[in-house]
Parts: sequence; C-alpha cells; structure tokens
Amino acid sequence: MKNIVILISGGGSNMAAIVRAAERDDWRRTHDARIAAVISNRPEAQGLAFARDELIATEVVDHKQFHSREAFDEELARRVDVHQPSLVALAGFMRILTPAFVARYSGRMLNIHPSLLPAFPGLHTHQRALDAGCKVAGCTVHQVTAELDYGPILEQAVVPVLEGDTAEALAARVLTQEHVIYPRAIARLLPSL
Ligand code: GRF
Repeated sequence: MKNIVILISGGGSNMAAIVRAAERDDWRRTHDARIAAVISNRPEAQGLAFARDELIATEVVDHKQFHSREAFDEELARRVDVHQPSLVALAGFMRILTPAFVARYSGRMLNIHPSLLPAFPGLHTHQRALDAGCKVAGCTVHQVTAELDYGPILEQAVVPVLEGDTAEALAARVLTQEHVIYPRAIARLLPSL
C-alpha cells in the first residue's frame, strides 16, 4: 500500500480535493494507495476537521512549540515517517522547509503553487499578476526542491484574468483549478512511486 501524507496549514481545500478524488476514483484499488494522514503545523487549521470526518489520521506539529526551523522540521519528519509515506503532498502548507527536510523526501514531495511557475514564486501571487497586467493566471503542481517554488513541473492550469478582477476574485478562480490539477498530478505520479 502506498501511503500519502498531506501537510496543511489552513482550510485544506486542496487536501479535501485529493481525499475526494482518492475516494471517487478508488485509489486503493486502482493505485494501491491511500491517504494515510493529514498533518498540520497549526492546531486551528480548519482542514483537520474535514480529515477527521473522513476518518483519516490527523496530527498537529505546532511550529510555535519549536525554538528553530530545524527542530520543527526534524519533529515533522519524524511524525510524517510514522506513516511510511510514498508521497508527501504540501497542500496550502505555509512553511518554508529546510534543505534537510526537502532532501529527505526528494522525488516524492509535491506542492501546489497559485501561479504559473516560474512566474511569481513566493507570496501574493494574484495581486502581483494583476499589478503586472497579466491576461492569464493559473496554478502549478511541482516537485519540491531546495529552491522555493521551483522544481520539476508536473501539471499547470490557466485561467483568464477578467476586467476588474480583484486578487480575491482571481484567487477563487485559480483555486477551482488547483482542485483539478493536484489530484490529477498525484494520480499520474502514483504508478511510478
Ligand atoms: C491556495 O491558494 C494554495 O494555492 C496555497 O494555499 C492556498 C490555500 O490552500 N498554497 P488550501 O485551501 O488550504 O488547500
């Protein structure tokens, strides 16, 4: 059985999309894969309630309880490894990971970023796209490497930027496509894991 561990920090809508796809497309049977755990760095992450309702193991590794980024990442890796993951999916996980953590899961850790990488790495991607006068925007699923918001691209989706768009309106349009491409990217990667 291939175990997938999903890391979240907030609402977890991308995590929920992956969980729903795994159920809808019966990943247990089609890919011998399952969502083994949802782990958050924030105790108040709303996504934890969804995972619990889906009877998925949930854990919190509260980054505020650690004196350094390294100490947090070491504990996070320990808790992730309990589930023997074939794949780690960062889904709205708002932490910058240490090179040691990234190296530990090299080749089996994905992230979803709300821009068409390599354009607009980092934060506030939608406002930056609007400020730049972009006519299209989108999202990217990529392998996580030591360089932030970089790494081999697995899937992308494009959405139009509409007249009068606010960052919030554009974010909502992009988010709907995140929920399409993230499960699809994972399903396509599973056979090779
Ligand atoms: C999304 O915009 C995602 O692209 C970014 O975090 C935001 C919230 O994601 N990484 P989620 O709803 O918590 O999955």
